Amino acid sequence: MPDPSFDVIVLGAGAAGLMCAAEAGKRGRRVLVIERAEKPGKKILISGGGRCNFTNIHAAPERFISANPHFAKSALNRYTPHDFLALVEARGIAWHEKTLGQLFCDGSARQIVDLLLDECAKAGVVIACGADIARVGHAGGRFTVATASQTFEAASLVIATGGPSIPKMGATGYAYALARQFGLKVVEPRPALVPLTLGGEHVLFRELSGVATPVEARCGSAAFREAALFTHRGLSGPAILQVSSYWRPGTPVGIDFLPDEPPGWLVAAKQVNPRATLRSVLRFALPQRLGDALADRLAIEGALANATDAALAGAEARLADWHFMPNGTEGFAKAEVTVGGISTAELSSKTMEARRVPGLYAIGEAVDVTGWLGGYNFQWAWASGWAAGQAV
Ligand code: FDA
Repeated sequence: MPDPSFDVIVLGAGAAGLMCAAEAGKRGRRVLVIERAEKPGKKILISGGGRCNFTNIHAAPERFISANPHFAKSALNRYTPHDFLALVEARGIAWHEKTLGQLFCDGSARQIVDLLLDECAKAGVVIACGADIARVGHAGGRFTVATASQTFEAASLVIATGGPSIPKMGATGYAYALARQFGLKVVEPRPALVPLTLGGEHVLFRELSGVATPVEARCGSAAFREAALFTHRGLSGPAILQVSSYWRPGTPVGIDFLPDEPPGWLVAAKQVNPRATLRSVLRFALPQRLGDALADRLAIEGALANATDAALAGAEARLADWHFMPNGTEGFAKAEVTVGGISTAELSSKTMEARRVPGLYAIGEAVDVTGWLGGYNFQWAWASGWAAGQAV
């Protein structure tokens, strides 16, 4: 039986928990990480298609969603993408920028897990995997964590058990249950970076399943220029995943199918080629099946020369802001992350410590801070884990 007494117990050996544990260990703290799964870092291993999009060089606080958009600033400013990149480079892990500032391993996500595990080992961190937490207690300024086989205790407890996205991989809402046990508020968790489903009149778009095209997708004031993909259930692709984090039931998603066309382009097309049809123009500008589907719905038949400028301007306006009314999302089963979580109002933005429960910390996806698609969520895990690691 290992010594049950530690300075710090971190619950969850994911991205945030391992970063926090390594940092605390480097400061000479005796750290135990308790992980339910048989192995640490499972989500890191499947991330970025197995290559781990480990950060984004544009990770500014505006690219994170939270009830308090200012909360993430301090941690993100103190531990930047360049800090994590320095770790990656010091270890000789080859990497590349894919697009939009997204940094990936050339090799495998396993390299990032090994990096974190080595940092933990160097700092003397003990990691206990396959340990189900039966009970967490708090008395006399110390936290106790009982697993099936042993009870551990420490002055600091870090909640790093992530969010409920992808339950098939063992993800749970445990962080929220624990937060509530200590009287901390939780902002309603919702699936994010998740495909949207379409019903009603939009069902017809399912015939386009498999068609992808670059668009600008909008939801409220959020707008993303990336690819959209039609699926047999609705809409996906990076642009849609991005807006899904902002989407609320009952609100539309607007799509500009031709975001690079200048205003008046359709009337101009009529002048250049009066015998062209709307269908032929759209087939040329878009994947053919999508061009046909949109032409069917716009119902401007015959040569462009026979259409009025007003009708063409109307068609152009619809193509620039095609409204879809999703009837839902594909849920936590398919969501890459969770929006919502432990309320930032409960935490110090500098240390991630709960204001009302000294010694209790929450980091990573468990907290109500959610990044855009593209390495932002790992950057939040590193930055919040690092911040708590300096304080525990
Ligand atoms: P994380 O989920 O990593 O870790 C939590 C840990 O706690 C897990 O190991 C879990 O088993 C453990 N745990 C849960 N309940 C427990 C309990 N009761 N007791 C003990 N342990 C418990 N982000 C990004 O920036 N770039 C990317 O490329 C990707 N790619 C990606 C792909 C896929 C398929 C998914 C699902 C997600 C991504 N993400 C991503 C998001 C990213 O994986 C996520 O934001 C971070 O892993 C969050 O890190 P945390 O440490 O907070 O939670």
